[in-house]
Amino acid sequence: DIRRITAPDIRARKGGEPIVCLTAYTAPVAQILDPHCDLLLVGDSVGMVVHGLPNTVGVTLEMMIMHGQAVMRASEHAMVVIDMPFGTYEASAEQAFTNATRVLKETGAQAVKVEAGTYIAETIAYLVQRGIPVMGHVGLRPQAVNVDGKFRAKGRTSEEREIVLAEAKAADEAGAFAIVIEGVDETLAPEITAAVQAPTIGIGASAQCDGQILVTDDLLGLFEWTPKFVRRYADLKGVIDKAAAEYAADVRGRRFPAAAETYALRVNAARAPRV
Ligand code: KIV
Ligand code: NA
Repeated sequence: DIRRITAPDIRARKGGEPIVCLTAYTAPVAQILDPHCDLLLVGDSVGMVVHGLPNTVGVTLEMMIMHGQAVMRASEHAMVVIDMPFGTYEASAEQAFTNATRVLKETGAQAVKVEAGTYIAETIAYLVQRGIPVMGHVGLRPQAVNVDGKFRAKGRTSEEREIVLAEAKAADEAGAFAIVIEGVDETLAPEITAAVQAPTIGIGASAQCDGQILVTDDLLGLFEWTPKFVRRYADLKGVIDKAAAEYAADVRGRRFPAAAETYALRVNAARAPRV
């Protein structure tokens, strides 16, 4: 049996070989990504890239659990982490524990991720002490979009640098096993990485992190809106568009289905030898 990568395994990679992370939301994609990744994140970005929501605020616990189950069924190697969606962990440590245990019990995943303003450190400690590994997420925190007004890079003023650094240190001291740093000035990520014991996972941060993560649909060229920090490794939108166009033309021209793609009447089926 292949043992899945665990939270302590990830934590032990601090300063070592970069930790490879991607998001996954569905079984077929999780199965393809699993052998290549150390960690698969069932991100609440699923709301935007799969469900067409304008941001992640509308994502529910039920959506996260359903996608988490799909990813767990189709993976066996990577550690699977599930995002706690907006409104399911911020009110109190008890609320976070109740909802995080549901996520872990119903999916079988090992850990959750929370967007970590300094106020959430207490909650991280509460969960970790009670058996739930937690990943922090600092810098650009998409769930705060309505306060910020838009998705905007953080840490580009000295005042903001201090805030993001404080968020990361607080999550680290609270026992987070890893910390995502999103959308910050590229000189800030190495400073945070040096200041915390937990490995840092960058997205729009800098190569000077302990690992990297991207939204898989962005990297595959499947999602329209892509931020500056995305590198496109494929053009699946073009692939799907071409396939759909060819299928449509074949249907309209009555070239699909062909004989090989239809069922023929089985003559003497009972007496026919088995092939
Ligand atoms: O929801 C998500 O996909 C994330 C990653 C981008 C870190 O939080
Ligand atoms: Na997220």
